[in-house]
Amino acid sequence: MAKIGTDISLAADILKSGGLVAIPTETVYGLAANAFDDTAVAKVFRAKNRPSFDPLITHIAESEALLPLVSQLPDKAKLLIEGFWPGPLTLVLPKSEKISALVSSDLPTAAFRVPRHPLLHQLLTGLPFPIVAPSANPFGYVSPTSAEHVNAQLGDQIDYILDGGPTKIGLESTIVSFAHETPEILRLGGLTTEEIETVIGSVRVNKSSSSRPSAPGMLSSHYSPSKKLILGDIPSLVKKYGNQKKGVLSFTEKYPSCVNFVLSESGSLTEAATKLFSGLRWFDSQDVELILAELLPEEGLGRAINDRLRRASFK
Ligand code: TXA
Ligand code: MG
Repeated sequence: MAKIGTDISLAADILKSGGLVAIPTETVYGLAANAFDDTAVAKVFRAKNRPSFDPLITHIAESEALLPLVSQLPDKAKLLIEGFWPGPLTLVLPKSEKISALVSSDLPTAAFRVPRHPLLHQLLTGLPFPIVAPSANPFGYVSPTSAEHVNAQLGDQIDYILDGGPTKIGLESTIVSFAHETPEILRLGGLTTEEIETVIGSVRVNKSSSSRPSAPGMLSSHYSPSKKLILGDIPSLVKKYGNQKKGVLSFTEKYPSCVNFVLSESGSLTEAATKLFSGLRWFDSQDVELILAELLPEEGLGRAINDRLRRASFK
């Protein structure tokens, strides 16, 4: 198990000497390493068992730090930066030579974000380099929203876990790509499509779920709990799976003779987002054979929540 605490100078020292530190962000916990040290970056891929074709997000303290790392900054990307950084938004942009082929999986573009978390901000401002940070979970599993989640799965492989409490948003950042002329949302996340469209107008959402997507976060099966998850109308599913031990992940209601996890009794999508991943993890520790779940309203954060539920249900 890793040491957990709030010691920013210890975290900085470990990162400076090429080690791995789990970091809190407002979205999910990340597994961080010095973005300018390929030996350290390679440890991130190993710890997560992540394929090398899946590029990493580079995290910086503030938007001014972006310029040396990119070769172009389109006007619409500038607008998004002004509107939403720091925040749950990742931009894919043509990279400069400062970003290594390992970090960007040999692509001509790379992903960047300025996270909004006071502890992480303090850490980043004290470092002479940016950090890469994928979500701190084994590849393909549900992202961690607490230091304990990280410790349970990757504790043996991390030098330190910086504990910033449970994450505020609970879903990964929204990824907007400027790889081509027209911007495109590659991954729905903590910043809603509606918010993005108020700033840059209507934007395409990449719905691809092929086995070779441009962002593996878009793989058909991703963000998966270990138990089988079935999506549909819960009352009908409860009848259909009558004699099995059933977990129910619902938006607002509890169901008799099931192990229930309610995302938000008051029907709040924001609350549901913060609880979704801990709910999925919780069922793995419960005596249930399968998880029955329902889609939430397809609006605002509901779109990103439904995206994760669909991927979690794909086996
Ligand atoms: O909220 C988040 O974004 C969290 C926190 C820790 O910042 N990070 C995160 O990282 O979710 P990760 O590695 O789990 O997901 C990043 C996604 C991957 O699906 C990757 O394929 C995609 O970003 N990505 C990175 N660089 C890319 C690029 N150049 N083109 C397309 N997709 C890219
Ligand atoms: Mg991830």
